Amino acid sequence: MDIQWYPGHMTKTRRMMEENIALVDIVAELVDARIPLSSKNPDIDKLAANKKRLIILNKADLADSRKTELWREYFEDRGFRIITADSKAGKGIKEIYPACREIMREKIERLKARGRILVPSRVMIAGIPNVGKSTLINRLVGRSLTKTGDKPGVTRSKQWVKIKKDLELLDTPGILWPKFDDEAVGLRLAFTGAINDDILEKNELAVRLTGELVKLYPGCLSSRYWVSEELSPHEIFENIGKNRGFLTKGGEIDSLRTASVFLDEFRGGKLGRITLEMP
Ligand code: G4P
Repeated sequence: MDIQWYPGHMTKTRRMMEENIALVDIVAELVDARIPLSSKNPDIDKLAANKKRLIILNKADLADSRKTELWREYFEDRGFRIITADSKAGKGIKEIYPACREIMREKIERLKARGRILVPSRVMIAGIPNVGKSTLINRLVGRSLTKTGDKPGVTRSKQWVKIKKDLELLDTPGILWPKFDDEAVGLRLAFTGAINDDILEKNELAVRLTGELVKLYPGCLSSRYWVSEELSPHEIFENIGKNRGFLTKGGEIDSLRTASVFLDEFRGGKLGRITLEMP
């Protein structure tokens, strides 16, 4: 399966990211709790080498909570501060400020001891497209931010939003590019909707997801779609369409409709809370 990402777009994104990172003390990186590694850009470690780091496992409402705990341990063992969040419902957002304070405490105490004037710490939210950056920023700020940068001819200056007296947030998130030299990573990004569907074969994607779910969450497809999981992924997929009544006028399975509905239901959590990769 051929999954593409646009290199031109990526160069610009990288440059912006470098400029923005230089302005902040803390990089809060959002990853998708259903695919914490595949949705993480490995280059962030180099880009944010001298910065304090926070990882937010977002969309935790859609992920398998037992596996989310394993991921929390995995990242904590590697020295990261972790927050799990459901930005859509506003869960976990309150933990961000205390976590940032904690992360900055040592530096602030050192500056205080030297009698230096304290300026607010600055944080940016970063992550790959669709991981929930805007949703989280709006939650954190408590309102929707206006996008002045969208007006032609208006050079947008960096805007800082005060979260508390000692913490400021960069109002535009840092956009990271997904990285998928490995096909399995590309597929997981596609399953969860991180990569645009129109650059993908929807039907093939749905069949591949069927195969993954039978392996990782046996029983999940049979209980929702009344299909036998003993069959091949392709046959299971066809049966999902048949059982849902998605047929063309000629009585064939309407594959595109089946694939669209199936992927939407998976992405919307209708098949249950599912995590597609393990530490
Ligand atoms: P981005 O800035 O990183 O590109 O992502 P954005 O906030 O636009 O969020 C992308 C989609 O993910 C949105 O759904 C948003 O509602 C959803 N989302 C963000 N955080 C969470 C979360 O913690 N849990 C769940 N379940 N969903 C989350 P959408 O369908 O594109 O828009 P909408 O119809 O929800 O408004």
